[in-house]
Amino acid sequence: MDGVTVIDHPLVQHKLTIMRKKETSTAGFRRLLREISTLLCYEVTRDLELTMERIETPLKEIDAPVLEGKKLVFASILRAGNGLLEGMLDLVPSARVAHIGVYRDHETLEAIEYYFKAPEDISNRLVIVVDPMLATGNSSIASIDKLKERGARNIRFLCLLAAPEGIRNFQAAHPDVPIYTASIDSHLNEQGYIVPGLGDAGDRMYGTK
Ligand code: URA
Repeated sequence: MDGVTVIDHPLVQHKLTIMRKKETSTAGFRRLLREISTLLCYEVTRDLELTMERIETPLKEIDAPVLEGKKLVFASILRAGNGLLEGMLDLVPSARVAHIGVYRDHETLEAIEYYFKAPEDISNRLVIVVDPMLATGNSSIASIDKLKERGARNIRFLCLLAAPEGIRNFQAAHPDVPIYTASIDSHLNEQGYIVPGLGDAGDRMYGTK
């Protein structure tokens, strides 16, 4: 599918299968989400530009590669996005973080915004938006609308699972934003859940149901 990268690394797929199992505990789910997010982060940052920096090893002066440009921004869509954020920060501790609060109205499935906090200067940074589930696409579309209003121009979207309906909506709204996911599942059900999915990601990671 154009504009969508499915991260099919065996470790990602194995961990995802355990996360999908209904008997996986809250603690297990959370631990796996943190582990899998480091692997997803590795893939979503695979093509970042490098520049050479003069350094001294204990033996010799050399030109060695370092990341080019301003620090990355990880934008977490609350609350489930925070589960992906932790592992990503393990890998890129210097990244800046944005938090975006949008919730789905359970009747209309529309996204309602209640919180937005991002670093001042996001226009020259790569912004990686994270949310485990791309379901209807409403919350991710609304979040990226807000980021673009604040000047973000270079955006990627990272999720664990995506529904084909969500991908279609997302790409219609933000054709310039590449999607990275560990799986494209079958469909959305009438309640807006991804099938087969893994249930409500926030509830599963925080034990709220
Ligand atoms: N959000 C979730 O947490 N799970 C779904 O299946 C869909 C949206």
